[in-house]
Amino acid sequence: TGAQVYANCMGCHGPEGQGNPPSFPPLTHVGPWAATEGGRTYLLHVLLHGLQGEIRVGEASYNGVMPGFSWLSDEEIALVLNHVVAWKAPQGFKPFTPGEVAQVRAKPLSPEEVWRLRP
Ligand code: HEM
Repeated sequence: TGAQVYANCMGCHGPEGQGNPPSFPPLTHVGPWAATEGGRTYLLHVLLHGLQGEIRVGEASYNGVMPGFSWLSDEEIALVLNHVVAWKAPQGFKPFTPGEVAQVRAKPLSPEEVWRLRP
């Protein structure tokens, strides 16, 4: 299940995605990004290829490095993203699919390049 895969994330992002300031951002704000193609592509790249660069979430900013999780399967990546997005799912949310993960996996980016895609 998505909750099981999320065990890989909890140590940094917290059990409910609340984050651990000042190092690790929350994830409760990312759901609405699942409603746009650009937002979905960004989230898939973060999971597969990591993220590095300063980000602002509300009043706080973070400037760490997230490792990529390309060792997870397409299905596991889809499950964990669906788990995270469920904290603030947009109306009519279309779940991430393994096929969508495979397409982004085929286009590797550096963590800095992923940062430039942030919505
Ligand atoms: C950022 C998800 C595991 C550290 C992010 C973002 C997402 C995410 C969606 C982007 C947030 C945004 O743009 O506002 C996940 C998921 C994980 C996971 C689903 C498990 C598969 C981890 C782990 C660590 C970590 C284990 C620590 C070793 C970070 C850091 C950032 C970040 C430091 C911000 C990077 C920066 O400042 O550029 N994570 N994460 N993440 N994550 Fe994770």
